[in-house]
Amino acid sequence: MQFLDHISLKNYNTFGVKVKARYFVSISAYEEIEDVVKNFDPGENRHFILGGGSNLLFTRDFNGWILHSNIKGYHVVEETDDEVLIKAGSGENWSDFVDFTVQKGWGGLENLSLIPGTVGAAPVQNIGAYGVEQKDAFESLEACNLISGQRCYFNKLECDFDYRSSIFKGGEAGKWLILNVTYRLKKKPDLHLDYAPLQKYFEKTPPEKITVRAVSEAVKAIRRAKLPDPEKLGNAGSFFKNPIIREERFHHLQQRFPDIPFYRLPNGWIKIPAGWLIEQTGWKGKRKGDAGVYERQALVIVNYGKATGPEILNLAKAIQKDVLKKFDIQLEPEVLIL
Ligand code: EPU
Repeated sequence: MQFLDHISLKNYNTFGVKVKARYFVSISAYEEIEDVVKNFDPGENRHFILGGGSNLLFTRDFNGWILHSNIKGYHVVEETDDEVLIKAGSGENWSDFVDFTVQKGWGGLENLSLIPGTVGAAPVQNIGAYGVEQKDAFESLEACNLISGQRCYFNKLECDFDYRSSIFKGGEAGKWLILNVTYRLKKKPDLHLDYAPLQKYFEKTPPEKITVRAVSEAVKAIRRAKLPDPEKLGNAGSFFKNPIIREERFHHLQQRFPDIPFYRLPNGWIKIPAGWLIEQTGWKGKRKGDAGVYERQALVIVNYGKATGPEILNLAKAIQKDVLKKFDIQLEPEVLIL
């Protein structure tokens, strides 16, 4: 276990904002958590469980405990002719883990290639991209309760996954440190190619050449073309969620804005791309000081260098205000604001 105080979190958040944490505890094995649980009362000592810091915005110094998993390793727990169950430590890098499964030719996570963050954070916000969410291949996870020290397994149902959410973001937020996550992958994969840019990418490819590896390569190429690399330009992916509204409300909007793109969801709900709404307000490619709206994807807010958390938040609020005024839609942040 590593215990530090007054440390800079600049390298622990992909926005690259400069803030400090009062205490920082990095845990490499379950056994080390006992010490943390003994000394620590979540009621008194404000705490936050930090993964890869790729989906949050710090707006001030964190005057509490940052708990960080550094639990590593992957291993196959079960294997048949058709399937593999693979367990990965929560501190593993997500993208490296996906690359490992893709290299083996195991299907299920290829559409989620190159997403920044850790394995432990993936189920917390049920990461998703290109028509797939991690819940689709999720089998179970093991977590430790930070108050009792009790170790527990959660299956898919118990995690209550939804669009960018789970119980670990809702009612159980901050109570559990995820130790490892198990995914069920397929040796004869069902590839998900519905997303329009993927279809376009494979337009001229013969079907037998569209493999797990090919899909992963395609996803990486599409991501690199649209999304900034946090190593080069600070960002946390999509800053807002895509709003979901009732069909009746959508029809009114469509009358005013006939070009509005949309995706139909079950039970009369409609999802609208927030990137389009933001682009229509004229924010795409604009900046306020060092905080800006990415020029190739309006849903991504970037830090051109020295933007502070409050500056990024002010830009986000200005965008929300303009979208509300023009479309009467309140955009909700996807990133966690601390
Ligand atoms: N669009 C615009 N202008 C823009 C950006 C988007 O008009 O500047 C419209 C276009 O109609 C485009 C549509 O929005 O076809 C969708 O854009 P895109 O395919 O880039 O996806 P998104 O809805 O903006 C979501 C996820 C991404 C994920 C992609 C691909 C959310 C909040 N974001 O973005 O996830 O990679 O789909 O599946 O659901 C993330 O969560 O951080 C993230 C990057």
